[in-house]
Amino acid sequence: MFSLSLRDNARLRPLEIWHAEEFAAHLDRAREHIRPWVGPGFVTVDLEGARATLRRYAERQAADGGRLFGIWLDGTLVGGVMFVEFDAGFGSCEIGCWLEPAVEGHGLVTEACRALLEWAFASRGLHRAEWNCRADNERSSAVARRLGMTLEGVRREYWPYGGTRHDKQMWAILAPEWRNHHQ
Ligand SMILES: CC(C)(COP(=O)(O)OP(=O)(O)OC[C@H]1O[C@@H](n2cnc3c(N)ncnc32)[C@H](O)[C@@H]1OP(=O)(O)O)[C@@H](O)C(=O)NCCC(=O)NCCS
Repeated sequence: MFSLSLRDNARLRPLEIWHAEEFAAHLDRAREHIRPWVGPGFVTVDLEGARATLRRYAERQAADGGRLFGIWLDGTLVGGVMFVEFDAGFGSCEIGCWLEPAVEGHGLVTEACRALLEWAFASRGLHRAEWNCRADNERSSAVARRLGMTLEGVRREYWPYGGTRHDKQMWAILAPEWRNHHQ
C-alpha cells in the first residue's frame, strides 16, 4: 500500500507475506544469480520456502528487528533490500540486498539502501550500519563504497561455498559520517 519512489518507474515498499507468490516467481529469476553471495536460508526453491522467508521477516519486524523491502520496477518485483539485523538498543543495524540479473547496473540498490540508512540514522537515531559481503563480491563492495562505508576488516575463510571457504568483508558507516556524506 505504502511505497517510496526510487525513480519514475521504480518503487520501494515493504515485502510482506501476501507477496509470497510474487516473491517465489522473482526468486525463480534471481536464484542462481544470488546463490553464491547470500545466506543459504534466503535461496528457497518453492512457494512455501518463499513464504517462510517473508514470515520470518514479518516476525522479526514485529519485534522491531529485521525488515524486508522489495524493489518493484514497472510493477514487477525485481529485488530488494533488508535490515538483516536491527538493534535499536545497541544503536546498530546491518543492511543486505539482492537483485535479479536483468536489472543490475542502474543504481536501484544504492538508492534503496540510502532510504534504509536515512531511516535508520535520522528517524530511528541509530549510530552504526554494517554491510557484510564475500570479499570477491565486487558489485556488493562497490555498493558499500558508494554509500560512503568504510572497510573495517576481513574475516578470513569465513564463508563456505562450493567447497571453498571465502573471506568476508565487513563494512560500516557511522551516523556522523552518513550526515557528512549526504550534506
Ligand atoms: C550486489 C547487487 C545488488 C549490486 O547490484 P548493482 O546493480 O551493481 O548495484 P546498484 O543498484 O547500486 O547499481 C550500481 C550500478 O548502476 C550504475 N548506476 C546507474 N545509475 C546510478 C545511480 N543513479 N546511482 C548509483 N549507481 C548508478 C552504477 O554505475 C553501477 O554500475 P557499474 O557497476 O556497472 O558501474 C547485485 O550485483 C546482486 O544482486 N548480486 C547478487 C546478490 C548479492 O551479491 N547480494 C549482496 C550480498 S552481500
